[in-house]
Amino acid sequence: MKVFITYKIPSVAEELLGKKGFEVSVHKGKKGISKTSLIKKVKDVDAVISLLSDKIDREVIDSMSNCKIIANYAVGYNNIEVNYAKEKGIIVTNTPGILTDATADLTLALILTAARRINEAERYVRNMKFDGWKPELFLGLDLKDKTVGIIGMGRIGYAVAKRCAAFGMKVIYYSKSVKQEAEKALKAKKVTLRKLLKTSDVVTLHIPLTDKTYRLLDREKLSLMKRNSILINTARGEVIEEEALIELLKRRHLFAAGFDVYDGEPNINKKLFTLDNVVLLPHIGSATIETRNAMAELAARNVVSVLKKGKAITPV
Ligand code: NAP
Ligand code: GLV
Ligand code: GLV
Repeated sequence: MKVFITYKIPSVAEELLGKKGFEVSVHKGKKGISKTSLIKKVKDVDAVISLLSDKIDREVIDSMSNCKIIANYAVGYNNIEVNYAKEKGIIVTNTPGILTDATADLTLALILTAARRINEAERYVRNMKFDGWKPELFLGLDLKDKTVGIIGMGRIGYAVAKRCAAFGMKVIYYSKSVKQEAEKALKAKKVTLRKLLKTSDVVTLHIPLTDKTYRLLDREKLSLMKRNSILINTARGEVIEEEALIELLKRRHLFAAGFDVYDGEPNINKKLFTLDNVVLLPHIGSATIETRNAMAELAARNVVSVLKKGKAITPV
């Protein structure tokens, strides 16, 4: 049986699939696969391991004649028409849980960088401008006793909440359901989205991108955010009306923002490059050696499980 991987991922995946006797082919090249090549490559394979940047739409799914599983190398799966795949009898899997801590750590790195202006200060030293300790050099904001508002209290949201609580922050959240564990362990309170935006000093996004969350933070919602507050997005760029956020950052209504994801990435709104009070990362939330290996292993194990037993380990 044949497995196609749309980009080189850690070798544990290929090794595991090879050991099980599967024939594995991988898209070669530095750039992601084009839609035309993707359509050709998936035609007669039994399984596909895809990246979050591969758009697996109806056209791609229609070209699959043998495929039983699309194993997304990510926890988010907004790049795949999951319901259509299901209609066609194709199982979609993702990589939940194993990347939670890595992504939460990166979120804290963004919160700390935004609050303490670490990006600006690092550039300052690198540009050889440091000429001595100064009482008012790079003044940032304290986190202790501030309020963090978690939008989407799922696996990553809760992991971020625990880290913020350890920094002495008060936790509030907006999610579909009440989270008993967070309420008990962290004294976290569920609030409306408007209340969260009006009262949080740090707002951090951990919802998936869906029809319901697209532009969840539009111009009107963003304008509710407190003066001098911080916004962090490690979820998906499309949940924010970026142009409106840029305006709030430009007129310093917000203190800073941290981005790991962008609307329409990898294209980035050029205006962001002109702002000092933004931290810009290239979608590296889960990018640790351990986590990316674990994701490769889980994607491969899902393929093996579906092709050998007809059942996925982590179906969407
Ligand atoms: P998860 O456990 O499913 O958490 C998502 C949470 O969002 C759930 O708790 C859910 O609430 C809430 N939610 C969903 N739709 C909502 C809505 N319409 N309104 C309010 N809340 C809603 O997922 P996760 O593992 O934490 O991952 C979250 C997202 O992070 C992924 O989908 C992905 O896009 C992103 N991500 C990014 C990176 C990166 O590299 N930057 C890495 C990993 C993940 P309930 O539980 O209340 O139903
Ligand atoms: C990364 O963005 C993921 O969804 O795993
Ligand atoms: C700073 O280095 C201090 O000693 O307060």
